Amino acid sequence: MEMQAQFITFEGGDGAGKTTQIKKFRDWLVKEYNIDILLTREPGGTPEAEKIRNLLVQSDGGDWDPLSEALLLSAARREHLVKRIWPAMKKGQWVISDRFVDSTYAFQGYGMGLGLDYLQENYKRIADDFMPSLTLILDIDPVEGLERSGKQLDITTSELEKTENRYEVMGLEFHQKLREGFLDIAKRNPKRCRVIDASKSVDEVHKQICDIFIECLYKPYETAQIG
Ligand SMILES: Nc1ncnc2c1ncn2[C@@H]1O[C@H](COP(=O)(O)OP(=O)(O)OP(=O)(O)O)[C@@H](O)[C@H]1O
Ligand SMILES: [Mg+2]
Repeated sequence: MEMQAQFITFEGGDGAGKTTQIKKFRDWLVKEYNIDILLTREPGGTPEAEKIRNLLVQSDGGDWDPLSEALLLSAARREHLVKRIWPAMKKGQWVISDRFVDSTYAFQGYGMGLGLDYLQENYKRIADDFMPSLTLILDIDPVEGLERSGKQLDITTSELEKTENRYEVMGLEFHQKLREGFLDIAKRNPKRCRVIDASKSVDEVHKQICDIFIECLYKPYETAQIG
């Protein structure tokens, strides 16, 4: 089946299951549709953007003013788009990203109180009207999500990942705001965003994602503009 290269993003709170599900979804797309896929993540996705990632997600990253933080994320995103996402899509690869601009809206817009207007305007400056064709928002009670993240700190987690907890320690109230923010983003963008009940088992969440993908395949979303 010939399909135009798509850009799909996974969003949601810490421990919702994004990284788990994105890999399963990638494997399923390859098996079912033989699609050439680039898996990537934000903040990060290029060597330069990964340097910015470390400033923001590492526990000793620093104490940033929220607007400075949003601008760092924007710079990282610009690197990611120009050097990785757009070149891949121009070659016909699909790109699936573990977090993208909706995380900036949720964390800095809703969680840190910057609001959406400036952040949306800023995104437009770096990306024009490029947006994901589909965004899967993994929704879970933050108490459960943070508990899952806590359990993850075992021997399988690398030393660098173990200290990536600057946001995780921001408190429950902050994480409640994130959850509400993601749900509000979904409400404002009903064509692009789908909310998934991430409290279910890994297999049940995977099935919800595949079903949504199939539904969107037969009712394709407007094709995103590249570049
Ligand atoms: N549906 C599920 N039920 C129970 N545990 C799960 C489920 N999905 C993922 N987990 C476990 O919860 C932990 C967090 O999952 P994962 O890393 O995929 O979440 P994440 O959304 O990527 O988190 P983060 O935002 O911190 O990167 C992992 O240990 C994972 O094995
Ligand atoms: Mg993850």
